[in-house]
Amino acid sequence: MRLAVLASGRGSNFQALLDARAAGRLDVEFVGVFSDRPKAAVLARASAAGVHAVALAPRDFATRAAHDESLFSAIADVQPDLIVCAGYMRLIDGSQVRRFAGRMVNIHPSLLPKYPGLDTHARALAAGDREHGTSVHYVIPALDAGPVIAQARVPVLPGDDATSLANRVLEREHPLLVASVGLIAQGRVSQHDGQVVFDGRPLRVPLQL
Ligand code: GAR
Repeated sequence: MRLAVLASGRGSNFQALLDARAAGRLDVEFVGVFSDRPKAAVLARASAAGVHAVALAPRDFATRAAHDESLFSAIADVQPDLIVCAGYMRLIDGSQVRRFAGRMVNIHPSLLPKYPGLDTHARALAAGDREHGTSVHYVIPALDAGPVIAQARVPVLPGDDATSLANRVLEREHPLLVASVGLIAQGRVSQHDGQVVFDGRPLRVPLQL
């Protein structure tokens, strides 16, 4: 399976995919890393691994639609089977999402449908949640709202702040993303009519990994 990654920052989730591939635990081919931030650390990780890397800064385009049109044309050029948003921090223009419908997933640091958007860890703490986590879902034209494939849960512990909670979640994000992409690569997970299909049946509840 040809995999493209969209990322804005540090790239630890991309690194987890690279490491899994190197260890023979993930059967994918990395066809490109794409970013909206020319200085993102994820680009250096891509170069170090010999993966094609492209960064297009939104300020160089007149509109979001124009930026996304260029970015996703560059993505289309590498002919990915799947696009993984791994810490991509911009809303994606709906027309690009529709262009890649069913072929784009995102990892989000909350137990969706709780806390779409930003500052998820602080919001879970402010709500007094005793459990928090992360979700991998198909991308649809509404923010963090697509059908959820899989989730991982962590406890919220006394004394947690947003940083400690984020770190606990991140530890679970890496294996969750690797496992989710692996299931798609194996053909065990797909999307049909806005629903996740797992082993040939509609998935009623997200996989808990
Ligand atoms: C991850 O925690 C990911 O869930 C989150 O950004 C982080 C990226 O870390 N994504 C979002 O918040 C998307 N809305 P990484 O750059 O080290 O992979």
